[in-house]
Amino acid sequence: TIYVVDFGGQYNQLIARRVREQGVYSEVISYKRLEEKINEKKPIGLIFTGGPNSVYEESSPKIDKKIIENLKVPVLGLCYGMQLLTYLFGGKVEKTNHKEFGKVEIKNIKDSKLLENVKKSSIVWMSHQDMATKLGEGFYALQETENCKYAAIENEEKKIYGLQYHAEVNHTEEGKKIFKNFLYNICGAKGDWTIENILEESIKKVKDKVGDKKVLLALSGGVDSSVLAGLLSKAVGKNLTAVFVDTGLMRKNEGDEVESAFKGWDLNFVRVNAKNRFLEKLKGVSDPEKKRKIIGEEFIRVFEDESKKIGKVDFLAQGTIYPDIIESGLGDSAVIKSHHNVGGLPDVVDFEDLIEPLRELFKDEVRKLGRELKIEDYLVNRQPFPGPGLAIRIIGEITEEKLNILQEADFVYRDEIRKAGLDKTISQYFAVLTNNRSVGVMGDFRTYDYTLALRAVETTDFMTADFSKIPYEILEKISSRIISEVKGINRIVYDITTKPPATIEWE
Ligand code: XMP
Repeated sequence: TIYVVDFGGQYNQLIARRVREQGVYSEVISYKRLEEKINEKKPIGLIFTGGPNSVYEESSPKIDKKIIENLKVPVLGLCYGMQLLTYLFGGKVEKTNHKEFGKVEIKNIKDSKLLENVKKSSIVWMSHQDMATKLGEGFYALQETENCKYAAIENEEKKIYGLQYHAEVNHTEEGKKIFKNFLYNICGAKGDWTIENILEESIKKVKDKVGDKKVLLALSGGVDSSVLAGLLSKAVGKNLTAVFVDTGLMRKNEGDEVESAFKGWDLNFVRVNAKNRFLEKLKGVSDPEKKRKIIGEEFIRVFEDESKKIGKVDFLAQGTIYPDIIESGLGDSAVIKSHHNVGGLPDVVDFEDLIEPLRELFKDEVRKLGRELKIEDYLVNRQPFPGPGLAIRIIGEITEEKLNILQEADFVYRDEIRKAGLDKTISQYFAVLTNNRSVGVMGDFRTYDYTLALRAVETTDFMTADFSKIPYEILEKISSRIISEVKGINRIVYDITTKPPATIEWE
């Protein structure tokens, strides 16, 4: 294990993923919990992340130098992490006038195991104003830039390394090599975190824990719960009951698709058609937060009714994945929207224990696992879809008529995006039925129909996002197809806001 020690940087999950891509298991932990974690399990190395603070300020996040000295494993500090190591080991960090931001050229000035096969001169991604101006005893520079004398540093004896730049982002050309060198040349990693091993181990763990007891799963048809269903089916077969609640708020044909994807699998598949129940509860409601609450609650009620039929189960399986549980080094962020997940279930279902086999995995690893399990591509590669479904993409009150209009329009939109090959680069794309109606003319007649908004974003973490620059010709084609094929829409707009200030969904 490598612990990625979080000091509040923006790229911390990315660092953990870079490490895992090299076949080494890594976890992001708050700097506050470093001591506790190393007592639980000794890591083969530590990576200190960046962060927004200045080490010379009293209140900035720090750790006790003794922890590093006693642990005696290699440490790599990135940006703030490097500055902290410099500060702890007797160097000096100052604010300078030469702030570097963006792509910067860097040169190697000394050989090191860390720089094996790294080009003599390359581009790195910088983002700092503070920097080391003096190094502690035993430290020396490995790389420099025009404005930064200590862009990469080493203390070979103590196995402490620092990079002023962000090796984890793609803009740093040699970043992957540097991580690889740190992990294999310096930490002595074995590289056994592979998808085959993960799958084999997960199945074994579930088998050992569950034996021939009964497992219940709420299957949404999303990537995580689908992969979980596949994994559990391989581990416990018919002892798994997967309950798929079709809220009626899914995309066109989606309910049938989910059902048919799991047809041939070794499990009990239960589909509950609950569209009427949901629409009934949502009647007259237009407040977004209320919609979410109602759907979350109704979901639990439906599940409760269903589980009464099944009776007592031993385990409830949940598709919790790693990003759901990572805590940030600097703590709480504000709740912008209440996300509906199946997290409310444990109270209402009679079960003994919870199993969460995907708890340690990032989304891309869950997808790889799904492919390894031979789950349909359609499910494994699908874009994220919110729990409350189309209810939060229909602005204002939800009616069956509006639901049908949106399903049809969204279907055409997705079809055209796929045909244009843009589904590979766009992270999430969907249509929103605004509550706005406007005047149009069709044939010789006046129309007074809905305005449809198209949304498409590119993002890696869904925390920030850019709108996709879809070519006008493609937008034109989408627009004319929707207008001619979908009754009830006479105007189409494209959403060109980034997140922030907007969010990805409209509600
Ligand atoms: P926002 O709109 O907050 O969305 O920028 C970020 C990502 O989260 C998805 N999303 C949800 N997912 N339950 C979910 O499981 C929800 O209630 C929910 N709301 C938003 C959204 O689709 C985007 O990918």
